[in-house]
Amino acid sequence: MAVRALWWDRGKLALLDQRQLPRRTVVLRLARASDVAEAIRTMAVRGAPAIGVAAAYGMALAARGGLSPARAAKLLGSTRPTAVDLFVGIDAVRSAWERGSDPLEAAHAYRARVVEECHRIGSAGAPLLAHAHGVLTHCNAGALATVEWGTALAPIRVARERGADLFVFVDETRPLLQGARLTAWELARERIPHAVIADNAAGHYLARGDVDAVLVGADRIARNGDFANKIGTYEKAVVARENGVPFYVAAPWTTFDARRADGKAIPVEERDPDEVLELAGRPLAPPASHARNPAFDVTPSRYVSAFVTPDGVVRPRELAARLARRARR
Ligand code: MRU
Repeated sequence: MAVRALWWDRGKLALLDQRQLPRRTVVLRLARASDVAEAIRTMAVRGAPAIGVAAAYGMALAARGGLSPARAAKLLGSTRPTAVDLFVGIDAVRSAWERGSDPLEAAHAYRARVVEECHRIGSAGAPLLAHAHGVLTHCNAGALATVEWGTALAPIRVARERGADLFVFVDETRPLLQGARLTAWELARERIPHAVIADNAAGHYLARGDVDAVLVGADRIARNGDFANKIGTYEKAVVARENGVPFYVAAPWTTFDARRADGKAIPVEERDPDEVLELAGRPLAPPASHARNPAFDVTPSRYVSAFVTPDGVVRPRELAARLARRARR
């Protein structure tokens, strides 16, 4: 039943084309770094940890294709600006490559690190859900977004294995519907009880007391705990606080950006307005209308109850010291 978003297959990067899910399961096999860059840009692969791993393999393909480390890093690094994992994945392979080590081995090692950290997030976060029933999540922070396990979905998976009776409210996540298309697909495969809700229904369920915890992933977490995640996350955090519902952010260490002091310094990707103006290829608005399409928003750390990391739960006020300790190791 386990989902894998991508894997190395006889000299190529194989990945599930997430644009096609849930209607069709299509595997892309990419042989060039430029193909990987295109897959990241067009969101055939998406989710912060997964694009970091894809970019790591893109670097390995670039080495085979005769690109320089600097050119390869520029090609892959220009795809999406917000998720810091992208740059962590690129740098992990680039530094090995520049030291004369095998870039493919470095990509495999990076992938293994991400998968292992997500697995540990599951165990670290499950106790937070031991007595919960309703859990709200936004976007897709499952195996598709992380290669295996997920970040926000990992504690849900482990808590269920341990007997928790969970029901997941899945925000549809306009405009690209990662919740309705991808999170629901993962939960349905594993028979985890859930309902897809319109994005603007979350407040309704939070106010009624149907949600015991909100659990989301992140694309970049600054030193003070401000974090970027899929557009709409900020609203959920504010409404959760208003209703006294704990709000948890699950992420591997690759998503923490100790170099950014706070959320103001996080770059927010603006995507093609047509993603907002169309739904399933059909126009939603009159041809004369324009749209704006920020792909992420930044939630201030004061709304975060705790970060679920591979090494346990970290409160926002403890985060800077924890990151400093990790940097000294
Ligand atoms: O634009 P996307 O689909 O790449 O955005 C993904 C998200 O915002 C996820 O919540 C985030 O990357 C965390 S994934 C574990």
